[in-house]
Amino acid sequence: CGIVGYIGQPSLLDQHSSLDVLMEGLKRLEYRGYDSAGIAVVADGAVEHRKKAGKLANLTAELESSPVPVASVGIGHTRWATHGGPTDLNAHPHLTDGDQLSVIHNGIIENFAELKKELLADGVAFRSETDTEVAAALLGHIYRHEGEQDLTKSMQLVSQRLEGAFTLLAVHADHPDRVVASRKNSPLVVGLGEGENFLGSDVSGFIDFTRRAVELEQDQVVTITADSVEITDFFGSPAQGKEFTVDWDASAAEKGGFASFMEKEIHDQPAAVADTLLGRSDVDGNLILDELRIDEDELKSIRKIIVLACGTSSYAGMVAKYAIERWCRIPVEVELSHEFRYRDPIIDANTLIVSISQSGETMDTLMAVRYAKEQGARTVSICNTNGSTIPRESDAVLYTHAGPEIAVASTKAFLAQITAAYLLGLYLAQLTKKLYREEIKDILSDLADIPAKVQQILDNADSIKELARSMSEASSVLFLGRNVGYPVALEGALKLKELAYIHAEGFAAGELKHGPIALIDEGQPVFVVVPSPMDRHSLHAKVVSNIQEVRARGAKTIVVAEAGDETVRDYAERVFYVPETQPMLMPLLTTVPLQIFACELATAKGYDVDQPRNLAKSVTVE
Ligand code: G6P
Repeated sequence: CGIVGYIGQPSLLDQHSSLDVLMEGLKRLEYRGYDSAGIAVVADGAVEHRKKAGKLANLTAELESSPVPVASVGIGHTRWATHGGPTDLNAHPHLTDGDQLSVIHNGIIENFAELKKELLADGVAFRSETDTEVAAALLGHIYRHEGEQDLTKSMQLVSQRLEGAFTLLAVHADHPDRVVASRKNSPLVVGLGEGENFLGSDVSGFIDFTRRAVELEQDQVVTITADSVEITDFFGSPAQGKEFTVDWDASAAEKGGFASFMEKEIHDQPAAVADTLLGRSDVDGNLILDELRIDEDELKSIRKIIVLACGTSSYAGMVAKYAIERWCRIPVEVELSHEFRYRDPIIDANTLIVSISQSGETMDTLMAVRYAKEQGARTVSICNTNGSTIPRESDAVLYTHAGPEIAVASTKAFLAQITAAYLLGLYLAQLTKKLYREEIKDILSDLADIPAKVQQILDNADSIKELARSMSEASSVLFLGRNVGYPVALEGALKLKELAYIHAEGFAAGELKHGPIALIDEGQPVFVVVPSPMDRHSLHAKVVSNIQEVRARGAKTIVVAEAGDETVRDYAERVFYVPETQPMLMPLLTTVPLQIFACELATAKGYDVDQPRNLAKSVTVE
């Protein structure tokens, strides 16, 4: 969910009201969930709220037909439904204490059932099915009793009672001079203004108004007024936040002339790869990863690497496995964070955990990293979001410099993650002397050529787009790939599922004969990601055989191959060529046509590619 809070001096009302700030923030945070949206403001001694199921546009329409009074304080929420369906009633804010207290929430309150029982016994009535309303009701109850009508104290007390993960924001009609918030295992940042202060799930919640931000630690309560920010722990002891400046500007989060953020972000990829490479090696082929603050001797003693990630990031992890194992001869396991955490994995001080997360907030990955740390592992985070939780809690971080990724389905972050993983692999190979300097230099030089090659694919995308439009009625699409082409096939299939709601599966091409080939009948579209003819294991010929096998059974074959590879032409309905590079780096190129295909096909179907149904960009619940 996305959360925003605001309070300003009344004199600032000439510039913007709390509603203006909240709606701008929600627009930018909508990528965190768009099942419903709502706001509450405090004006004339009362809380006024509006909330609507569906995207933010529905709330905007509601506010037009039923405006709220101009106010200097308020909170806003955009929801990704967990407890209770996406209805008006279940939307946030939730009101309590005679409708004077308004609360929004992100996360899951795990002990909500027992708290609800307690409150019901105390005569509290409930309107919705959400765990949030339980938190709100408990806050209202505590406010009237032990909290002594002090909103900050009440928030501290309620935070002690709640289990699970939460960010809570509250405003009260009796305290129009403040917004109070609390966080546990769920993101919250403060934005600092002149005569005004902000709260957001992340900095995009207030990026239009200020670049100065304060990171909160775990288990903290913050009270903002127009002129002050006070932070405490859950027991009221004063605490400090860490101030930082947001280094990307709001324009980076605009569509820049493209029809969708997704299309723009696909086109940002040359820059995403180039910026991720920037300054991380010298002309002699030395990797310079100063940010990797783990002792070199410790890194040299690593005996096993485990990559943890979810979704698209996990496919970047699979590419990392092929590269790191080949270059460094260190065994690499790739595991979905949520599976890893609960299977008693074997980790010790010689294990390096590499987590990969665009947002740095994915709860499954955060929990897995914490668990690995507890077991004594060293942890490196590959992350795209400055100051987010996973890098903060890791021993070291290698930032991907893809810039803010707004579209829910990941594109440029994926290419940047793969790039960062290659850099990490090369760095370890340099440390452990598993590759010669010249070999490293060679790979780095090929990496440096990738941005221009991605650009070439983007500049010649008409035919893949045309194919996508012609396939908008397809009901199932299969993707085959081998070696580093296998994660690419998985990613191609995932993009199509996410964006176009078409059944799509990715398979390792070698596995075809062991089952998936039974799916092939007349007209079944099959994408095949063909390895480079230069692949040292001669996988090229094997995959070309796979193309023939599915074609013989009626499949419509669509091939992504390296420029100059004429052998595939005879067996393919369509061929899309990508520029040449060394076999290990091919995912940075072969992924791109598949992204374009999914984006174009979903657009042709009239779907919102930036906000596909049921998804959220950053899933901050387990
Ligand atoms: C969500 C998004 C996916 C993303 C995954 C991991 O499910 O919808 O696009 O790949 O989370 O996100 P992360 O921020 O950890 O990379």
